[in-house]
Amino acid sequence: MKKIELLSEEQLQQRLCDNLTKHELPDLFLYVGEEGASNWLTLDSSDKFTVARKLTELLRSNVSRIVEFIPGHGSLVSVGVGNGEKERIILKASLSSNDPPFYYPIDVSSQLVDTALESVKDLPVEKTGMVGMIEDLALLRENWISPALFCILGNTFCNYDPDRILGLLHENLFESDIFLFDCHLLTDSDASSQEIEDVEDIYRSEENKMFNAHPLINAGMTAENIEFDLRLLPVESEIGAIYRTHKTLTIKRNDSVDLCSKKISFEAGDVIHMGFTYKYSFEQVASYLEKWGFGIIEQFFDVDGSNVLLLTRKLSEKNNSGE
Ligand SMILES: C[S@@+](CC[C@H](N)C(=O)[O-])C[C@H]1O[C@@H](n2cnc3c(N)ncnc32)[C@H](O)[C@@H]1O
Repeated sequence: MKKIELLSEEQLQQRLCDNLTKHELPDLFLYVGEEGASNWLTLDSSDKFTVARKLTELLRSNVSRIVEFIPGHGSLVSVGVGNGEKERIILKASLSSNDPPFYYPIDVSSQLVDTALESVKDLPVEKTGMVGMIEDLALLRENWISPALFCILGNTFCNYDPDRILGLLHENLFESDIFLFDCHLLTDSDASSQEIEDVEDIYRSEENKMFNAHPLINAGMTAENIEFDLRLLPVESEIGAIYRTHKTLTIKRNDSVDLCSKKISFEAGDVIHMGFTYKYSFEQVASYLEKWGFGIIEQFFDVDGSNVLLLTRKLSEKNNSGE
């Protein structure tokens, strides 16, 4: 099993240092290192995170249709692959074809790429792991065989600004590629307070707090000095209000972390801003796809309509509004 490292641990450490100095902690740092990867695997399999399980089931129920869209002589590429459980489901279902795909599990976490590769070592497909960031898609793409069934799964699409991610994909995918992604939806775009509370409760659990705070704790900060907060709030966009999580870590007592051979100090009251997740209605996702010139080939909802899996393709002409 081959593995290409386009990003080193040292580069990640330096980026973490630079971000923390600016009081920012982007979510990618939550998954890296032995501890980050293992925290994620624990959280992902936790009973509290029903979304993860439902998205896997949604994929399993529709996989026989999905594998029909793996391009012949092409690849299965998955960015933000995590433990690779969903990709294993797709690969297994694709084995009956005469032409099994090349497989490229990609993640910012080297340990998660190892986990994903290990989980398919018994399957007779050619596999090459890649450690890298989705932001470097142009570079990643040079290393896989096109066309591809290109996947972003596990609600990961919703963790990016929609214009940024779809702009990046539009620039880097070919019209012969198929883009598969899933979303946990708000079933009503005027979310009820109950729906908002449900989402907030899931993400505010103690497990999730520890997952979010661990880069600081790992670098020497006392867990009790960190307060985790998450709110789901509407943000204005050109297609109306969209719900988005706002995550922060507030430092309760003066403390510091040791990283990249230096001490970064924080004062009581300092707020560290983190990553976010959008909670779209299906119509909002469809609007963004249309704006960026992606056509929906097929959509698969689960029974209560709270999760969707979308098979899409880049159309030849992008709408002008997407510029
Ligand atoms: C929400 S998890 C989903 C994992 C997996 N796809 C699943 O369905 O369980 C997000 C994944 O994206 C990876 N990730 C986060 N930021 C990334 C980035 N900027 N580039 C590449 N991978 C990233 C994380 O390491 C993690 O494995």
